[in-house]
Amino acid sequence: MHIVHISVEMAPIAKVGGLGDVVTSLSRAVQDLKHSVDVILPKYDCLNFSHVKDFQFHKSYSWGGTEIKVWFGKVEGLSVYFLEPQNGFFGKGCIYGCHNDGERFGFFCHVALEFLLQSGFHPDIIHCHDWSSAPVAWLFKEQYMHYGLSKARIVFTIHNLEFGAHLIGKAMAYTDKATTVSPTYSQEVSGNPAVASHLYKFHGILNGIDPDIWDPYNDKFIPVSYTSENVIEGKRAAKEVLQQKLGLKRADLPLVGIISRLTHQKGIHLIKHAIWRTLDRGGQVVLLGSAPDPRIQNDFVNLANQLHSSHNDRARLCLTYDEPLSHLIYAGADFILVPSIFEPCGLTQLTAMRYGSIPVVRKTGGLYDTVFDVDHDKERAQACALEPNGFSFDGADAAGIDYALNRALSAWYDGRDWFNSLCKRVMEQDWSWNRPALDYLELYHAALK
Ligand code: ADP
Ligand code: GLC
Repeated sequence: MHIVHISVEMAPIAKVGGLGDVVTSLSRAVQDLKHSVDVILPKYDCLNFSHVKDFQFHKSYSWGGTEIKVWFGKVEGLSVYFLEPQNGFFGKGCIYGCHNDGERFGFFCHVALEFLLQSGFHPDIIHCHDWSSAPVAWLFKEQYMHYGLSKARIVFTIHNLEFGAHLIGKAMAYTDKATTVSPTYSQEVSGNPAVASHLYKFHGILNGIDPDIWDPYNDKFIPVSYTSENVIEGKRAAKEVLQQKLGLKRADLPLVGIISRLTHQKGIHLIKHAIWRTLDRGGQVVLLGSAPDPRIQNDFVNLANQLHSSHNDRARLCLTYDEPLSHLIYAGADFILVPSIFEPCGLTQLTAMRYGSIPVVRKTGGLYDTVFDVDHDKERAQACALEPNGFSFDGADAAGIDYALNRALSAWYDGRDWFNSLCKRVMEQDWSWNRPALDYLELYHAALK
């Protein structure tokens, strides 16, 4: 089967959040199953070219009076076509955040289909993502399907219904199959007008993580390679280096890590509360995050200053985007906290487990589907052939998160042998694409029927 992803994000060269991770890791998993996968991406001026191999000019063509230069390169073993329209749409120094994002990405969708047509590509599946490549669905069905790309079927994945719901709703009407990124989120949004009348073709397929990109046995950003066999030693070394790097002094205390975009979705008030709660309980906190909204960013800068005066030895807020540091935190933290108000899937809790860190999460969306509370979810875990793997809470107030955090920290303080065996156990769970990639292939086949 030949699958073409049309996407505006792709990790690690153009990543804003999990959508970029998923485009790369799902494609790699499907390619490993001997299918042919290509990705079409805008050629942003801010692409991280250090991860692009064999970069070369491919061709150029015109659409609507604009010349489009096409470049080709390999990213994480995937073939990527980079579209560079000569109207400067992707030379703005950013992926999102321009006043005309809708127009820029609508244009990209159009020229991506035009590229497929003019290059004589005959993909079986064209897979598009979120509002930004939603126009592919209707442009294809209204125009390109009749021009010679007739064989293809459209698959559309909703990563987050919070943004561009009207475009998502429109794509839902035109797509052959649609997915969202966890079973629970698919239920949570089933009444949303964008999807409600299309449930017959809408499926919740859990995301996975790429076990090679996130691999504590082979990770150049952490000091000691480890597997579940030497997880305690490996994590101890990572914690030491993390603490040194950030100037934290107390290796003998539990460390709660948070790696997040700082937006309403991620539970800002719960994150702040948890920072103070952890410090009150004698723990340490490292937060790595950045806020697209300058008011929220400023708020966290103030909090960082406050913590600098009151808890400089035990708290560090790194208010930036830093991929290498994220690896060191996943490895060096004891817990990764994800108190999202809503979370379509969430990748950080999965990555945490891959590095033997224990997730502490709010029960919503994909967090509910992947984290099973050690005290309350034994049966639910068993039904999924899993052992409980973390701590979770309901509600969006202080009481809920305190309940989970207190139990987590007590487990660290009072039951080290048990805690260490939990770290080993979560590392051995498989949150890769092994299973979900097969679900996607089944869906692709169903779309072609
Ligand atoms: P979302 O896509 O809603 O932001 P996900 O959990 O699906 O949430 O994916 C977030 C991804 O972005 C993860 O790979 C996480 O490690 C990464 N990430 C988030 N914030 C940062 C940051 N400040 N620095 C580095 N990586 C980050
Ligand atoms: C979105 C969601 C997140 C999900 C990611 C990848 O950004 O917010 O929950 O994991 O997409 O699908």
